[in-house]
Amino acid sequence: MDDFHEAAAMSRRELLIAGAASTAVVGGTAAPAAHAATPELPSATLTLTVNGTPRTLAVDHRTSLLDLLREHLQLTGTKKGCDHGQCGACTVLLDGRRINSCLTLAVMHEGAQVTTIEGLGSPEKLHPLQAAFVRHDGYQCGYCTPGQVCSAVGALDELQRGVPSHVTADLTARPLLSADELRERLSGNLCRCGAYSNIIDAVGEVAGVKP
Ligand code: FES
Ligand code: FES
Repeated sequence: MDDFHEAAAMSRRELLIAGAASTAVVGGTAAPAAHAATPELPSATLTLTVNGTPRTLAVDHRTSLLDLLREHLQLTGTKKGCDHGQCGACTVLLDGRRINSCLTLAVMHEGAQVTTIEGLGSPEKLHPLQAAFVRHDGYQCGYCTPGQVCSAVGALDELQRGVPSHVTADLTARPLLSADELRERLSGNLCRCGAYSNIIDAVGEVAGVKP
């Protein structure tokens, strides 16, 4: 081998050694250094009153109200259907108004009052809407039912407060207690079992409307 080719072979060997060494650093000492630099997840301590009981918890800022209820407080009556605000399975009452709990962050609700299906009634003393669902056979698998009942509680309260809906003919008058109003107001709650006609019968009975 002449001088030129010997020098080229040497530098190729050095290059390979240097490459192997840097790979070892990435796989060894460099990786823990990068891990150590990972910032702490932002978290906050908040207090909410859930079903009448004050609860103080430390949560990651990204925790939805739904996950706080189900994962942190083990209140699994509230269901996760789509986790995207499309099915209503996660409906709870927040300061008396219905809300899709999957679409809101828990940290936004310091000091709020949350009512879930567990807080509406008990097996011994059902809420009138829960009792009506039983009487009218308003559920099959029951997955959507907690959200349907919480939504119906909120919808009847909206009607009482005179809040108009998409089908209210006169926005300046008190909305009529009609089957159309009930159907429209509950249309955000989907039921995969298709128990809709019995659900509307149950809510109609409590509202005093003949669907
Ligand atoms: S789980 Fe919240 S709307 Fe479907
Ligand atoms: S009763 Fe099964 S999803 Fe509604």
